[in-house]
Amino acid sequence: MLVQSLLLTALSILSLSPASSGTVSSSSSSSPSSSSVNAQYSNLLGDALWFYEAQRSGKLPSDNRVSWRNDSALQDGSDNGLDLSGGYYDAGDYLKATYPLCWTMTSLAWSALSYGQAYVRSGQDAYLDRTLRWGMDWLIRANPDKDTLYVLVGDPDVDNQYWGGDQGIPNPRPSYKIDRINPGTDAFASCSSAFAATSYLYGGGGNNSLPVQQPGQVDPSETLGGVPTIQDADYSSTLLRHASDLWELATTTTKRQRYQVAQPVVSKIYPSTDYQDDLVLSSLWMALATANRTYSEAAETFYDQAQPAFPYNQGPLNWDQKAPALPILASQISLASNQLGLSFSKYQSDSEVWLDSLVSGKMTNTFTTPKGLLWFDGDSDPASLNPSLNSAFLISLYRSLASNPAKTKAYSDFADSQIDYVLGSGNGYNGPFVVGVHPNSPSNPHSAMASGGQDITKINTSPPTEINTLYGALIGGPDRKDRFFDLRDDYPQTEVALDYNAPLVAITLYRLSTSTDDPPYGLPEDEAYPSSSHGLSKGAKIAIAVIVVVVFFSLLGALAWWRREWLRRSYRLRKLGL
Ligand SMILES: *[C@@H]1O[C@H](CO)[C@@H](O)[C@H](O)[C@H]1NC(C)=O
Ligand SMILES: *[C@@H]1O[C@H](CO)[C@@H](O)[C@H](O)[C@H]1NC(C)=O
Ligand SMILES: *[C@@H]1O[C@H](CO)[C@@H](O)[C@H](O)[C@H]1NC(C)=O
Repeated sequence: MLVQSLLLTALSILSLSPASSGTVSSSSSSSPSSSSVNAQYSNLLGDALWFYEAQRSGKLPSDNRVSWRNDSALQDGSDNGLDLSGGYYDAGDYLKATYPLCWTMTSLAWSALSYGQAYVRSGQDAYLDRTLRWGMDWLIRANPDKDTLYVLVGDPDVDNQYWGGDQGIPNPRPSYKIDRINPGTDAFASCSSAFAATSYLYGGGGNNSLPVQQPGQVDPSETLGGVPTIQDADYSSTLLRHASDLWELATTTTKRQRYQVAQPVVSKIYPSTDYQDDLVLSSLWMALATANRTYSEAAETFYDQAQPAFPYNQGPLNWDQKAPALPILASQISLASNQLGLSFSKYQSDSEVWLDSLVSGKMTNTFTTPKGLLWFDGDSDPASLNPSLNSAFLISLYRSLASNPAKTKAYSDFADSQIDYVLGSGNGYNGPFVVGVHPNSPSNPHSAMASGGQDITKINTSPPTEINTLYGALIGGPDRKDRFFDLRDDYPQTEVALDYNAPLVAITLYRLSTSTDDPPYGLPEDEAYPSSSHGLSKGAKIAIAVIVVVVFFSLLGALAWWRREWLRRSYRLRKLGL
């Protein structure tokens, strides 16, 4: 234990990590006792957030950490006389898509409310703040008045034809809206969720949280949620105003319809399946953010009236389908606030309908690959890791709320198997499916910006090696036989996206909160990407001396252990008569 913490200290002084990634640096002022959390998971969290920084659109601030990114798409919105610059590029291309962004922001806020102390302890709270603000500030612009929401910037057909850097993005980049006359119930409601969830996170002195344990299971002083260091009451009330306007719009427009009916261009990239789930989700978040029963009653009504009935949904959780998330969020909220009149036992049993079906392998159209990746037939084909990690995300929130310890264990084991697969254990690929954290990490994410390529007919080979490392990006994932080819043009396997990284952040917070073990890929990032350009500082030289001494004593220890084991084993063999 002592040896381990000495090593960690030495490594953090050495700080051989690339200056350009989200790795926790020893000089970070907001980083408290880093020995209380696992250093590799802290780095993974940092990198997963750094990915969002690499996806930024608009004018980049001076503290931008991604050296190879430039200001871009500054004229967005000008076709409608608005400033819609900023925000995030959705995936490996240059579109800005509101509906999946709103889910991404909602789920980032949700995991922070549930496991927020992991942000504080790993010193990544300031980056959570930056990640959320870059998205929410843009969504504020995309909701320029009470009745309007911009849902897409960029023409998918034009964007599809471009493969190159952020300086040659083709124009024009039209902006597309929905409004009171041409409503999109799902997009209004989903963005209301994002505003309400982030409003709640920034409010309450930053102490607001969602329970991941039942009353009595935990010492109340040890809350897992809440991020006090990012509190901002003014920002919280601005966000709440947008949340409430969009909830009004979603619920009072007489024509309830999916947003692609109002704005068909979005069906080329992110058509929505239904709006019933979004209505429940946004009413739940509004209830939490306002402590007003009007919203929890609305949530119950939308939930109870839905057809088919929610608990029997057999699909995954993703940017489009939120059904499995609803009873889980309702369970958490019912514990967080008993004035809202939500019944914990009702939502607890509804949560378990989906979870039991999942972990027992009885869910329709679902199987696990030979090496154990959860697969939803159809939904997993365009990007296999997302449904798996989103399931693990839901379990991380719910597992200790389960009705008995056997369920807690079954759910946790299932989530752990998925997380370990993604992070490199037994997946047949011998590496984590996260870029830039291990020598075997995928090195060809489908990202026009990162690749440095200019020739859309030679995406794989030009340039031969991807120019920029997109640290912390989760890629699409392997196929249904666990095969993964790491080819830049294979977008189902190697594309990156805002919504893919959200559950990566969540499961990293979960691991940071519940364990001090290393991730399964088990190799310090520092070893994978030693910095070459800088000479060693005095601190680093001292650190090396410390490491040498520590390694020496560890070796002595190991030798003693090995000898003891050897003696014990030969004793056992003798006893067995072998
Ligand atoms: C940013 O600009 C520099 C200088 O023009 C260029 O070399 C680089 O490729 C640009 N970055 C991207 C992601 O296009
Ligand atoms: C939030 O928590 C901090 C630290 O525990 C405390 O000092 C502060 O008073 C709390 N704020 C509110 C509004 O409860
Ligand atoms: C609760 O919300 C509803 C709907 O926005 C509003 O009409 C009502 O005044 C609110 N109640 C309170 C006590 O704030």
